[in-house]
Amino acid sequence: MLETIKQTADFLRSKVSDMPQVGIILGTGLGALVDYIDDKLFIPYSEIPNFPVSTVEGHSGNLIFGMLGGKRVVAMQGRFHYYEGYGMKQVTFPVRVMKELGINTLFVSNAAGGMNKDFKVGDVMIITDHINMFPEHPLRGKNYNELGTRFPAMTEAYDSNLISMADAIAAEKNIRVVHGVYVGVTGPTFETPAEYEFYRVIGGDAVGMSTVPEVIVANHASMKVFGLSVITDLGGKDVKEVPTHEEVQKAALVAQPKCLEIMKELVARI
Ligand code: HPA
Repeated sequence: MLETIKQTADFLRSKVSDMPQVGIILGTGLGALVDYIDDKLFIPYSEIPNFPVSTVEGHSGNLIFGMLGGKRVVAMQGRFHYYEGYGMKQVTFPVRVMKELGINTLFVSNAAGGMNKDFKVGDVMIITDHINMFPEHPLRGKNYNELGTRFPAMTEAYDSNLISMADAIAAEKNIRVVHGVYVGVTGPTFETPAEYEFYRVIGGDAVGMSTVPEVIVANHASMKVFGLSVITDLGGKDVKEVPTHEEVQKAALVAQPKCLEIMKELVARI
């Protein structure tokens, strides 16, 4: 595992002269952040040794190095979802590589279904915490002390300073943001009404099929994390609308400019 991470990082170092400070994982419908990145270098996942290849429609697989808000960043255009059949070590491999490249701050974004009754479709939710409902843990198995401690705390999985800064940015720019707990599930089914209700009752505000594995590994690696969810649909026993992948993508596209504004400005200020 350590060798594989180093091999991939060495390959990327051979392609890119200046290493980034910030890593970004772009979720469903949020790929347009890439347009704000200057001096871009695209590296398709298929050319990166040891990288899995993304298969889902609407996710193109590229690692993009460049400048955003005056900082060097690397963005993942397309992530690896557990429901695609990848193991947790594969899903989280890019985060390991980012850390090996010297990145200490990770931004994540995703599309999620809202259970909180105050949420509306198109809302941007700053993730304050998460609940891990995945059946496999990314840190299960041998612990490599070089990568992190055996029993990492998850008390501040999402950095409180970054959350405060994002709140300030949203207020300045008049962007409505909500705060909430993200519940990470396997998918690929959307939830039954009873499941949305269950995730709300246990303390969740939104539910989605990604992010939690990457955030766990980033915390294991002592990285600071900031996360945004776009609320693309609502779920619960009183909700009649049926979510579809197309609708999720459409709603994410509409909310995308708000996310991009916050992310771009936050990168500039850290
Ligand atoms: N459930 C799970 N994942 C999702 C949803 C949802 O309602 N919307 C977008 N991703």
